[in-house]
Amino acid sequence: MSQKQTTTISVIKADIGSLAGHHVVHPDTMAAAAKVLAEAKSKGIVIDYYVTHAGDDLELIMTHRKGVDAPEIHETAWNAFREAAKVAKDLGLYAAGQDLLTDAFSGNVRGLGPAAAEMEFIERPAEPVIVFMADKTEPGAFNLPLYKVFADPFTTAGLVIDPKLHDGFKFEIYDVMAGKYVVMNAPEEMYDILALIGTPGRFVVRKVYRKSDNEIAAVVAVERLNLIAGQYVGKDDPVAIVRAQSGFPAVGEVLEPFAFPHLVAGWMRGSHFGPLMPVAQRNARCTRFDGPPRVVALGFQIKNGRLIGPADLFDDPAFDEARRQAQVIADYMRRHGPFMPHRLGPEEMEYTTLPQVLQKLQSRFVESKLYQVKGPKVKTELLHE
Ligand code: 13P
Ligand code: 13P
Ligand code: MG
Ligand code: MG
Repeated sequence: MSQKQTTTISVIKADIGSLAGHHVVHPDTMAAAAKVLAEAKSKGIVIDYYVTHAGDDLELIMTHRKGVDAPEIHETAWNAFREAAKVAKDLGLYAAGQDLLTDAFSGNVRGLGPAAAEMEFIERPAEPVIVFMADKTEPGAFNLPLYKVFADPFTTAGLVIDPKLHDGFKFEIYDVMAGKYVVMNAPEEMYDILALIGTPGRFVVRKVYRKSDNEIAAVVAVERLNLIAGQYVGKDDPVAIVRAQSGFPAVGEVLEPFAFPHLVAGWMRGSHFGPLMPVAQRNARCTRFDGPPRVVALGFQIKNGRLIGPADLFDDPAFDEARRQAQVIADYMRRHGPFMPHRLGPEEMEYTTLPQVLQKLQSRFVESKLYQVKGPKVKTELLHE
């Protein structure tokens, strides 16, 4: 292998239908997808692959030499989802073909429904990589943990004591509404970074680079399906890839933020805030109120493109307390029923029935004679448009 040869890891996922509502991927659909990837491996398109799921999301983890956004890789993933969706339709699975928004593949899965996180690098002698896969939440769910991993010294001791991390990291932050991104430096601009990514429904951490040499450290799939489809079709359940050790945060530093089950948007009908619960892969299956939202972490070593592993990293009593806290938070949030801040705010309910309810009532709203705005104008158009 030449010194400069790069390896690419692509994690491409789609919800192509699931068993008993939005609960879990059916094994036959995984087998159909795996068959397509096995063929791609025998043809040398991919070097290695691992098919898994997070709840009702079918996840394809692939390694290859073709770089990010390679048409052949995206086409392979698309064909795997198509084959899996056929099985899902045949079995009458729920929401069969949910995330496949078109019949025509056009060279890249982006914009067609599936979500992709991909990174290309020259392998280190030992290359530990963690693949995070979440169900019942949105890409911005990774904002808080990634900020902590790459910018918070109370999480990552290496930012203080490892000379290779001491210069800090660069965050590429994507505005999902405007389709623009900005690259910002930590620690210098950490307050400005937080001003953006504290709005995870709009500003999403898409990539993280090591500042000293621009080496890729993390990448998140930021597709927001609702914004693409123009209507509610599922909650953009995200994936992320993070490199660890030897110049990057240690595996334990990358996992540390998930000991706090922070509130994320998603859960029932993609319309509620709830705690993100770190779970073993076998427990990545949402039940209560279609949740609570879950995240799985699979650890691999990548060697000459081969995927060694995985290690199921949250399958550990060390995360029991986070899971218990998540249950307590789930109870507390659920007791709000249809009230905010359990239910998302009106700007996030755009693609649900809420606007239709307001539309229906439009003619019954009566102008109030006593209504006078004093001081700053109150924005009422969201409710009375
Ligand atoms: P080891 O000494 O076990 O390799 O651990 C080093 C380390 O970085 C742990 O976070
Ligand atoms: P998914 O986004 O995981 O398909 O969930 C949709 C839903 O409506 C859950 O209640
Ligand atoms: Mg689903
Ligand atoms: Mg899902």
